Amino acid sequence: MSPFLLTRTLPEDATGADLRADVLHGLTRTPKDLPPKWFYDARGSELFEEITRLPEYYPTRAEREILIARAARIAEVTRARTLVELGSGSSEKTRHLIEALLPGLESYVPVDVSESALRGAAETLTAEHPRLQVHALIADFTRGLALPGTPGPRLVAFLGGTIGNLLPEQRTLFLRSVRSLLAPGDALLLGTDLVKDERTLVAAYDDAAGVTAAFNKNVLAVLARELGADADPDDFDHVAVWDREKEWIEMRLRARENLTVKIRELDLAVTFEAGEEMRTEVSAKFRQEGVRRELAAAGLELAHWWTDVEGRFALSLSTAV
Ligand code: SAH
Ligand code: AVI
Repeated sequence: MSPFLLTRTLPEDATGADLRADVLHGLTRTPKDLPPKWFYDARGSELFEEITRLPEYYPTRAEREILIARAARIAEVTRARTLVELGSGSSEKTRHLIEALLPGLESYVPVDVSESALRGAAETLTAEHPRLQVHALIADFTRGLALPGTPGPRLVAFLGGTIGNLLPEQRTLFLRSVRSLLAPGDALLLGTDLVKDERTLVAAYDDAAGVTAAFNKNVLAVLARELGADADPDDFDHVAVWDREKEWIEMRLRARENLTVKIRELDLAVTFEAGEEMRTEVSAKFRQEGVRRELAAAGLELAHWWTDVEGRFALSLSTAV
């Protein structure tokens, strides 16, 4: 069995303090909003995995197709000895990359806020690749990362299109912080979902089986468990809308009637008018020029751009300038 380390870089109470701050900030203003990282408790991580298998949710399949086609090229170009993956979740697609990077790859550093996802991924990977050192980090990738001193060259992967879940100003800060992790010869592999027709996009975020609706409402279960909130998921509808100008999908929870949610731990009562919506996620969609521009602004040069055959999703490889 290979070595497996799990390091918590967040203080034990950081999640609680962070959630309180986000709820106080996001639910006491108009329009109400919450950051999407609160979806991912153990149940939320499971629901996300279910989403990736839905017929309507194409991004995972499209990105897997690109990884299978390009992993050997990525390995050849990067010669990475350490693979760092941000928001790694189940690391399910990453196996294609890991297999191509072996035998030169020594360390895999998955980084996620979801401890259950990290443990599950590490268990599978260490069983499959006994010589690979897996050093999982429970950390918030928007908070500046302290990575373990593993050997270079380093490849930082950020897959799934999760960068689209950050707002534009957060993306700028995030890409700069990623840039600061890269030494000469290191690279960033970035997955970005691409702008496409509204029908396909909305269906991907409002599936017929209602799994995305359950994922969206899971944030209410997190608020109930962590902060003693009494929001009833049946009082809200799942909403997914395409914002044509901003080129992002917004997921929201819409109150079915006038209601008050009491949040015991914050001694707070939050009122919703019938029809009022709380934004729970943005999922930005990209174009090549926009990605190139955002990377360049952070000191990264786009070197490769690969899409799936249908042109739905892109993987880009960039290096520090
Ligand atoms: N990369 C995987 C999982 C994507 S789901 C894939 O492509 O399928 C998004 C993942 O990012 C989840 O596992 C979630 O727990 C994690 N995540 C979301 N916000 C995060 C944050 N601020 N810091 C660290 N991980 C985060
Ligand atoms: C993790 N992230 C890229 C997903 C997305 O598509 O924005 C999260 C998700 N939200 C609804 N479905 C999936």
